[in-house]
Amino acid sequence: MEHAALRVIRDEHASLAAMLRTVSLLLAQHRRDGTAPDFRALRAMLFYITEFPERLHHAKESTLLFPLLRARSAQGHRVLDRLDREHGEGERATRELEHALIAFEMMGTPRRDAFEQAAQAYVDFYLAHMRLEEQEVLPLAQQVLTAGDWALLDAAFSSNDDPLLGHAPAAEYAALFSHIVRLVPAPLGLG
Ligand SMILES: [Fe+2]
Ligand SMILES: [Fe+2]
Repeated sequence: MEHAALRVIRDEHASLAAMLRTVSLLLAQHRRDGTAPDFRALRAMLFYITEFPERLHHAKESTLLFPLLRARSAQGHRVLDRLDREHGEGERATRELEHALIAFEMMGTPRRDAFEQAAQAYVDFYLAHMRLEEQEVLPLAQQVLTAGDWALLDAAFSSNDDPLLGHAPAAEYAALFSHIVRLVPAPLGLG
């Protein structure tokens, strides 16, 4: 049986990946058609892909899962260091992406390329980050963590609102996800 903590991580990755891919598709479609994107939808999507990992997802990995893995195994420290570093870079990447979006919205076409490049770099970065976690970190966790570790992780990851970690309730992000689904044109098929 799959551990609840692993299921939560994979589910959160799947929601994030769906939104990241939709941003990419949406921008490609508007570029092809020579149209301006719906900035309201785009702002909502960027808010989701920056806020959700920052507030809900990374904290659980960096403060709970990774320290347990470091304690149980000498293996994987380099990967964990890289992933922790990437978690720490989120705030700067978010600020740059938001600035590029505002520039595109305010200044129009001359700033389109810069925004599209920044958005695609962010999408690629996050997809690669999550792939590394799924290919290296989760299998390592399954090998080395003890039953006690899993009990702790399963309880922490299953709780929707952990005041110790300052989590916003996961349900709020699910509601935001549904709201964005309604803003995005149907052919892109989010959700
Ligand atoms: Fe992560
Ligand atoms: Fe993750």
